[in-house]
Amino acid sequence: MIIDLRSDTVTLPSPAMREAMYRAEVGDDVYGEDPTVNRLQELAAERTGKEAALFVPTGTMGNIAAVLAHTGRGEAVMVGDQSHIYRYEVGGASTLGGSPMYVIPTDANGMLDSRKIETGISDGSDEHSAPTALLCIENSHNRCGGTVLNLEQLEALNSLAHSHSIKVHMDGARIFNAAAALGVPVSSLAQKVDSMMFCLSKGLSAPVGSMVVGSREFIYKAHRMRKVLGGGMRQAGIIAAAGIVALEQMVERLAEDHEHCKQLAHGLADYPQIEIDVDRVVTNIVNFAVLNTQQQRLTHEETLQFLAKAREHGVLMGTMGEGTIRAVTHYGLDARDMQTALAAIRRTLIDMQLLL
Ligand SMILES: Cc1ncc(COP(=O)(O)O)c(C=O)c1O
Repeated sequence: MIIDLRSDTVTLPSPAMREAMYRAEVGDDVYGEDPTVNRLQELAAERTGKEAALFVPTGTMGNIAAVLAHTGRGEAVMVGDQSHIYRYEVGGASTLGGSPMYVIPTDANGMLDSRKIETGISDGSDEHSAPTALLCIENSHNRCGGTVLNLEQLEALNSLAHSHSIKVHMDGARIFNAAAALGVPVSSLAQKVDSMMFCLSKGLSAPVGSMVVGSREFIYKAHRMRKVLGGGMRQAGIIAAAGIVALEQMVERLAEDHEHCKQLAHGLADYPQIEIDVDRVVTNIVNFAVLNTQQQRLTHEETLQFLAKAREHGVLMGTMGEGTIRAVTHYGLDARDMQTALAAIRRTLIDMQLLL
């Protein structure tokens, strides 16, 4: 049996989702006539405490549509250097919207330095720099190992941005994981930002889809941008139906994934050749590195070898570069799978002569 820890995007739809998809009432959503999409959008707005919501096929499209809706051509968007928007979205906001990205260092917990934000903001009075229109943040933070920004941190970022008349967009691909880890309703996190994207297709296990939420005026603009990006779908209720089940049935269980991730992290910490900070594992992502006999991180090539060997032993994981390995827990995996994964990783370390 393969234990796939590469991402929570590998989750398969639950039986209830398949049933809901089969039975979904549908219509042409470009005419606004798909009742299931409309219901999902109302539910997403209600759960996040925002005025309106928009169903988009992917998180990437949701983030790009949001940035395009907030910024005009030549207006800058501030992003963290480790953010998904900056690193993994093909520079879409800049390429498609003509908005230059101003990049700020991200700390180990996914937080952005307020002094760096402040010194980087341009009000447009200097003709050399693009005026700043938007600050993007990420919660939970993927590349930082699923770390979360709490209410105080969000409030600090929000008030700083607003004091300079800058809007805040949150890439909340895994915001329900962040909310579960913090023990707060997702609406209290969403309240701290002007707009947010969250994914139905990750920990919430829907096969396809993400949501963008914000004010009615913002969603009106994001809707237009979705169309520009080719994201106007027709009988999308088929997939929206699974999204409704995701919001109604899959949120509560995320705490299980977090428990499994901690179990995995503690097990890994028992192996002397694994470099890991278990205290930073608060959601469903764990980052770690493998050390060689000189206590140095494996090179990229060696990391790929390690992952290939782990695959032979039945465990799939990914690399984030610089010797960092990422494992993600999710629906479909249980505590026994964590034990099996740990045993397979142990055998991999032995194969690579890193453990006796
Ligand atoms: C933090 C974050 N934002 C956005 C996305 C984009 O989502 P999608 O793969 O649906 O485009 C991802 C996907 O992995 C992500 O981890």
